[in-house]
Amino acid sequence: MRHLLGLRDISPERLLQLLERAAELRTQVAAQDSKRLSLLRGKAISLLFVEPSTRTRFSFEMACRRLGAEPLVFSASHSSTSKGETLADTARVLERVGADALVLRHKGVGAPHQLSEILKIPVINAGDGINEHPTQGLLDLLTIRDHFPEFEGLTVGIVGDVLHSRVARSACFGLRKLGARVLFAGPGTLCSPDLDALGAEVRHTIDEVIADVDVLMMLRIQRERLGASMLASEREYRHFWGLTSDRAARLRDHAIVLHPAPMNRGVEIDDAVADGPRSRIFPQMANGVFARMAVLLDTLEVA
Ligand code: CP
Repeated sequence: MRHLLGLRDISPERLLQLLERAAELRTQVAAQDSKRLSLLRGKAISLLFVEPSTRTRFSFEMACRRLGAEPLVFSASHSSTSKGETLADTARVLERVGADALVLRHKGVGAPHQLSEILKIPVINAGDGINEHPTQGLLDLLTIRDHFPEFEGLTVGIVGDVLHSRVARSACFGLRKLGARVLFAGPGTLCSPDLDALGAEVRHTIDEVIADVDVLMMLRIQRERLGASMLASEREYRHFWGLTSDRAARLRDHAIVLHPAPMNRGVEIDDAVADGPRSRIFPQMANGVFARMAVLLDTLEVA
């Protein structure tokens, strides 16, 4: 069974194929009046989101529709999980009612890996706790590839709450596999030196990153995963770690800015930067649909 559980163990060949396919699909969709292809006609894709999501959920739903598949959207508050049904049994139900693949967003690290062991359909990780968010990693790579022809030789800075960021982990795995250099920086409580085990270099201030990067990815402060003692005030955070307009002005001329969103505007990124000329944050979201279309075709082994 061909799952997508993370970018840590994906081969560079499969990663490059996914990026190529996503770019091709983007071109194909743009050329169709209906914006629809029929590559997955007759298939049903279960979207099992047990943690909140806007971008990932809607872009998977749109990816299904663009490919002619039926999205089966799960709502935790209107399902039998509210009566205590386990995740494994819920997933088995979705498989038995006819889902051809299952997309899972869950707060538990390894939850998609567990389902992949009990289901006979492909499982796609749409974010598991602080572990990985591989489809976000793909859309980040696709957005970078839209601006820079080669990953080899690129330097990408990832700044903020690296410790709790599945986005940072997946992006780092993908970028390192394709030959890019990755610099992590964040407050001491949110950026442990052990993170260099992921293949990134760790810097101690945002200013040590800014002048060196081709791409700067700012991360969201994940209040839902932080203890009260792990973070100073938002004002202090912006002062030391925020991508302010002054800092953005020190980026190299060609450098672009990414953020997985949702953004804490005025904290990790200023409005003027998020909406400014270097920002590729909204194109990132648009690329999410095509990255997820490519993943659905890949996991369902549709040529
Ligand atoms: N970037 C991201 O995963 O956003 P959502 O939580 O809205 O899906």
